[in-house]
Amino acid sequence: MSDTVSYKELGFVNTREMFRKAMADGYAVPAYNFNNMEQIQAIIAACVKSRSPVILQVSKGARDYANATLLRWMGRGAVEMMKELGKPVPAALHLDHGDSFELCKSCIDSGFSSVMIDGSGLSYENNVEVTRKVVEYAHQHDVTVEGELGVLAGIEDHVSSAVSHYTDPDDVEDFVKKTGVDSLAISIGTSHGAYKFKVKPGEQVPPLRFDILEEVEKRIPGFPIVLHGASSVLQEYITMINKYGGKMDNAVGIPEEQLRRAAKSAVCKINIDSDGRLVMTAIIRKVFAEKPAEFDPRKYLGPAREELVRMYMSKNEKVLGSSGRY
Ligand code: G3H
Ligand code: 13P
Ligand code: ZN
Repeated sequence: MSDTVSYKELGFVNTREMFRKAMADGYAVPAYNFNNMEQIQAIIAACVKSRSPVILQVSKGARDYANATLLRWMGRGAVEMMKELGKPVPAALHLDHGDSFELCKSCIDSGFSSVMIDGSGLSYENNVEVTRKVVEYAHQHDVTVEGELGVLAGIEDHVSSAVSHYTDPDDVEDFVKKTGVDSLAISIGTSHGAYKFKVKPGEQVPPLRFDILEEVEKRIPGFPIVLHGASSVLQEYITMINKYGGKMDNAVGIPEEQLRRAAKSAVCKINIDSDGRLVMTAIIRKVFAEKPAEFDPRKYLGPAREELVRMYMSKNEKVLGSSGRY
């Protein structure tokens, strides 16, 4: 069997129509990361129940962790599972933070419907060059491409920068024109991971730079914008983690009402990974603490999965505004 497969055969869609509708109707499509079975099950279950479109997001780290072949078959399995759960919702399989043309090509060839080429750490010229190269290849396969301008702070396995640089609105029009990207991730004060800001307990986090977002919207009207680093670091799960033996002091995220405001603008895709990680960690810690004799993974991964469904449904409803759209 050939290893090359089109996403259309797998039942995925690219992000073009998803973003057109999100822009027109004033909401954002959720992009949730997955690395394992329970996460993808929860994302699919939540989005089918919510009647929300969904972007299933796979990072380079996820591919290294779970095996790239297994992950894409899980993606395919998720589409089939959706059919069993009821009427399917549009789903894209997306490469998160692709760092090279070769990685993007490999994902396109193996059934991804959308890829991100993250050249934000490169010089402007090199970012344009690699992004344009990915776009040329992707568009031959009707795969959509997300580029990035500006740098988010935050440390994760494969995405790390100590400092952030806001996106310069003066660059966006030229970048979009020269590269042909379908959507653009920008930096307006969000940040990756669970420790987004250095604030003392009770202090407010700095607000997102809506002035930059508005300026970007003026330069490229109607163009889909993406927000990375958009977990809210929900404090109920931080409290639970700390109560059951964890130590996550000063973990804070982006207030949900600011994301809701962004979702009503040209922001069409909002990336959330850390909030899912926190839910899983909190529930697993609770089960371990309350039932120390338990050793069946289904007994702690199952409750974590149930809580993930609740959290994703709440995001779709209250933050993204993507519920009930299909
Ligand atoms: O933005 C990055 C995502 O949260 C993926 O993180 O590279 O550790 O899988 P990861
Ligand atoms: P968070 O770490 O805020 O969840 O951001 C995830 C992300 O941007 C994935 O690309
Ligand atoms: Zn990201």
